Amino acid sequence: MGLVLNIVGWIVRLAVVLVILALMSSCTMLGLNYASLDTENKPEARPAITAETLGEWESGRADLLKTFETVEYGPWPSGLAVELVDRRMIDPDLANGAGTLEELTIRVGSGEGARIFHVALALPSGNGKSPLIISQSFSSNCEAFPGQPLTAPDGGSCEDHDTMPGFVSSIFGEFIALVPADQYFARGYGYASWLAGELIPDRDGDAQRIMSAMTGEGVTSPTGAVAGWGAGISAVIDVLEQDPSIDQDRIAALGHSRHGKSVIVAGVYDRRISAVIAHQSGFGGAASSRSTTGETVKRMIHGARAFGVIKLDGYPHWFDQTFVDYANHTEDLPVDQHQYLALLAPTPVFLGNGRRDVWSDPNSTYRMAEGADRVYELYGTDGLDQSGMQDFNPAAAISYYIRPGGHSITQQDITAFMDFLDAALPQRNEVPGEPNKANVSP
Ligand code: GCU
Repeated sequence: MGLVLNIVGWIVRLAVVLVILALMSSCTMLGLNYASLDTENKPEARPAITAETLGEWESGRADLLKTFETVEYGPWPSGLAVELVDRRMIDPDLANGAGTLEELTIRVGSGEGARIFHVALALPSGNGKSPLIISQSFSSNCEAFPGQPLTAPDGGSCEDHDTMPGFVSSIFGEFIALVPADQYFARGYGYASWLAGELIPDRDGDAQRIMSAMTGEGVTSPTGAVAGWGAGISAVIDVLEQDPSIDQDRIAALGHSRHGKSVIVAGVYDRRISAVIAHQSGFGGAASSRSTTGETVKRMIHGARAFGVIKLDGYPHWFDQTFVDYANHTEDLPVDQHQYLALLAPTPVFLGNGRRDVWSDPNSTYRMAEGADRVYELYGTDGLDQSGMQDFNPAAAISYYIRPGGHSITQQDITAFMDFLDAALPQRNEVPGEPNKANVSP
């Protein structure tokens, strides 16, 4: 009997190890692979952008944008009412008095389809106007600013909520949820964080239902959550537009992974965003939709099976149905993501990557950056100005960054984000009162 129990015990242990290995090799964060530094292993961006002049590029820009709306992201929402419902002080002495923490309650849309979300706004002390990083996140504001009496996603107080379990940050990085406000304040930045799922839930079925309920007279509602979340960034800018402590010419949008996808969309449409940080945005973000390694569009949309057994869900609700239909044959797509990055030009963009995060496909991301370079140059910027994947140039208008490690937000990333922003956003003492021209020649 003892022997049988022993054997069963070992079988159970083996099964557990196999399950862990399956998850590690199949899911986004713990890939056992290591991205090469070879960019030739990915095809060049296709179709190539051939515009010879800025005028030529700009004359085709609206049509290209329309194509992306039709085949990938759905429309950018418009006509939605945005209202600041409440603004309250949470902590007048955040980070040992280096700044303050407030909470904004924002309503988007009207009638039964209206959505409410909460923004935690950390601003450095001082009389001047500060640049602001607006970050949409997977984490609730309770996890972004632990211990503060902010509103939890269920409407209760964060004080009554447990914070994120430690193992999450061990896997996804120290700053996957936590906002290092002291570091941002020390370099002069304000930081606004909100849980994207409060605006549009990150669940297939619920997301589409809530997006279509946003429809109303004169309203174009989103058909994909990526664009819908992006519009949340715009709503935050709307309600802060008159705030005297924020420098409206120095607003950056920051997102990791799925939120990296949507900050690119936000930057394409909302030109009040002066810099975009798309960290590990992957497929549907800065990686090539035609790439066949890493997650691939197909797996992102339809999910995957680890060892043919464990089902990893897909995310069809992030995109318009047409993209879902293309997922099994992305070769036929008329566009690829280098063109989407080009639509962002000349806004400076940071493309963050991790060597172990092959799921997000760092190599094809570099290829997309190369493909977009031409348009950034047509705008008079330096575009992608590095000799290879590892030659990070935070001052370039397309700033490709790769570090060791996986799908996460680490200290090294936070420093790189700020190095990029310091270069991308105009320095007030250099261009007082001017719109963002830091990376654009006159
Ligand atoms: C999943 C998804 C990715 C996404 C990632 C994330 O792995 O498939 O496309 O980038 O989640 O948001 O962390």
